Amino acid sequence: MDVKKLLDDATGEISSANDIAILNQIRVKYLGKKGVITLMMKKLKELPKEERPKFGAVVNEVRNKLEELLSEKLEELKQKEKVERYEKIRVDVSLPGAKRDKGHLHILTKIQRELEDIFISMGFEVVEGPEVEDTWHNFDALNTPEWHPARDTQDSFYFDENTLLRTHTSPIQIRTMLEKKPPLAIISPGRVFRRDYDSTHLPMFTQMEGLYVDKDVTVRHLKYTLEEMARKIFGESAKVRLKPSYFPFTEPSYEVDVWFNGSWLEILGAGMVDPNVFKNVGYDPEEWSGFAFGLGLERIAMVKYGIRDIRDFVRNDVRFLENY
Ligand code: DAH
Repeated sequence: MDVKKLLDDATGEISSANDIAILNQIRVKYLGKKGVITLMMKKLKELPKEERPKFGAVVNEVRNKLEELLSEKLEELKQKEKVERYEKIRVDVSLPGAKRDKGHLHILTKIQRELEDIFISMGFEVVEGPEVEDTWHNFDALNTPEWHPARDTQDSFYFDENTLLRTHTSPIQIRTMLEKKPPLAIISPGRVFRRDYDSTHLPMFTQMEGLYVDKDVTVRHLKYTLEEMARKIFGESAKVRLKPSYFPFTEPSYEVDVWFNGSWLEILGAGMVDPNVFKNVGYDPEEWSGFAFGLGLERIAMVKYGIRDIRDFVRNDVRFLENY
């Protein structure tokens, strides 16, 4: 038996084993119950007595050597398998993550907050009032006579003869003046309701009322305030013009246009507070003067972003909403 060749063969087999199962087969082949080395040990008995110790020592040495090689190789293969396993489940942290769509505020909420910031910066205070209003605050106190079309049941939503969904935010002027002494400067955003429905009218829409009361208030204060607002909403080149109009609670009254993207666009109503309105809340019209305005938030957004159909604001279609 060529022990040297046996060792060389076994060493070669071990070193080229590339998985643990194969390595186990090699172990069985040499060291198993019927393995080559085991059989050699058994043959020991057949040898003459004096040769046994020497032969036994050689076989032992070979067995120890093989065991050492096998366990080294086993460690190496375990390590290799571990690396391969980790490689399979490895996460590439440099890949872009799974994106989750993020929502944002509704365009009207944004416009409202933008306007609030603008007016707050000019010293106005934000106040709110009820959506269910009585006819006195909504009409009479605002010098709106019985014959005015807004009072018609065809144009408003009545609960009973004296109670309705407010048709504008102007009753907040009355509520504020009854509560506070002048001077005062307020804005009041909120929902208003009318029997209207087409591409430029909704039965529910959003207004922002403005009221400024002080001594010696003139149309110039009104115009400056509106210009300041227009410049901040529509950009520095925005201009404002006032056209004579009529509202029962202002005198004189104006329709206000803004010059934007090459044309004049009507954005709101305004005027100097009518002396009768002051009388209705117990302010002396000889002492106090003021301006008021009411703007539609949907209208402002439509002008600014070129939105054609007011109904898009409430359709809740994300393809529309995500643009703004
Ligand atoms: N309340 C009016 C409307 O809804 C808008 C308005 C016009 C409000 C002139 C005002 C104003 O305060 O001065 O049509």
